[in-house]
Amino acid sequence: MIEFNNVSKHFDEVIALENINLTIKKNDFFGVIGMSGAGKSTLIRLINGLILPDEGRVDVNGLSLSLLKERELNKLRQTIGMIFQHFNLINQKDVLDNVTLPLKLQGVSKAERKEKGLEMLRLVQLEDKADAYPAQLSGGQKQRVAIARALINDVDILLCDEATSSLDPISTQSILDLLKDLHKKLNLTIVMITHEMKVIQQVCHKMAVLDNGKLVETGRVKDIFTHPTHPKTKELLFVQDTTDFSNKDKPQLRLIFDGYNAFEPIISELVLQTEQAVNILWANTQEVEELVYGQMLIQVPSLSQELLDFLDGRNITYQVEGKL
Ligand SMILES: Nc1ncnc2c1ncn2[C@@H]1O[C@H](COP(=O)(O)OP(=O)(O)OP(=O)(O)O)[C@@H](O)[C@H]1O
Ligand SMILES: [Mg+2]
Repeated sequence: MIEFNNVSKHFDEVIALENINLTIKKNDFFGVIGMSGAGKSTLIRLINGLILPDEGRVDVNGLSLSLLKERELNKLRQTIGMIFQHFNLINQKDVLDNVTLPLKLQGVSKAERKEKGLEMLRLVQLEDKADAYPAQLSGGQKQRVAIARALINDVDILLCDEATSSLDPISTQSILDLLKDLHKKLNLTIVMITHEMKVIQQVCHKMAVLDNGKLVETGRVKDIFTHPTHPKTKELLFVQDTTDFSNKDKPQLRLIFDGYNAFEPIISELVLQTEQAVNILWANTQEVEELVYGQMLIQVPSLSQELLDFLDGRNITYQVEGKL
């Protein structure tokens, strides 16, 4: 559905994107992560033709954007919706007028606009706010309005640029849940740009990592969480484990959860089985698609064979650290 072929883009001296190759398939929920300035917004703006590549090709739905005439490009753009970090609503217009603005620009009649607008507001569970003004809404509600507006043309593709970055954790969760729901219900292809791993982890199935204008890793979210290969991915995935656990007078074990182990039962079973006190020194585990990934550093009074057998029996990868 979306294809980048050797795409480069620079702004004067700044190379925003360099030689990007990327395929996003129909109905993918695709996340792109990277630090500030990595080129994420540039990448997303290339998808709807807001900017064109200096080199290479961006194809959407089989059409090469650089080759399209303005009119054809506008037509293609109507099949692509976009939402932003700061919602970009018009404060002087009420919710219904904000949502239906794209239709107004297309010359759709008022009655038709209203009907379609209310239908979209129902979809984002905000029907009762049709007459409210943006200033009367919470951040999460404003983003719902923006989503309704982005989808009003029955789009195939939804582009999200840091769509939850200015929301509190609860609103973030509800927007992510809504996007997940709409992705399924409307058969959307979603491209989600973010600098937060937890956003990708909660909703995306595939992902790419951008570092300094280069695509350094692409694949299934599950695989990348289990086996991140690029240092940048590791950095984004796990907070650097820099704490010095200098009390190394007892054995320490680093447990690596690879996606098949529920985390809490393992620790309590470990305590029951070995009758040893287990001290959790540090943990960085995350759930993806209901499986646990990450690492945990534990300290035990002594390293018994029973303990190691227990871990082997559960297929938990571990590494012994500290004093044996
Ligand atoms: N219109 C522009 N003119 C000049 N430089 C630009 C322009 N747009 C982007 N850049 C530069 O290109 C690089 C990539 O910018 P981009 O906005 O794509 O990064 P980003 O990953 O979205 O960052 P952020 O997380 O801060 O939004 C940056 O160095 C930026 O300063
Ligand atoms: Mg950006």
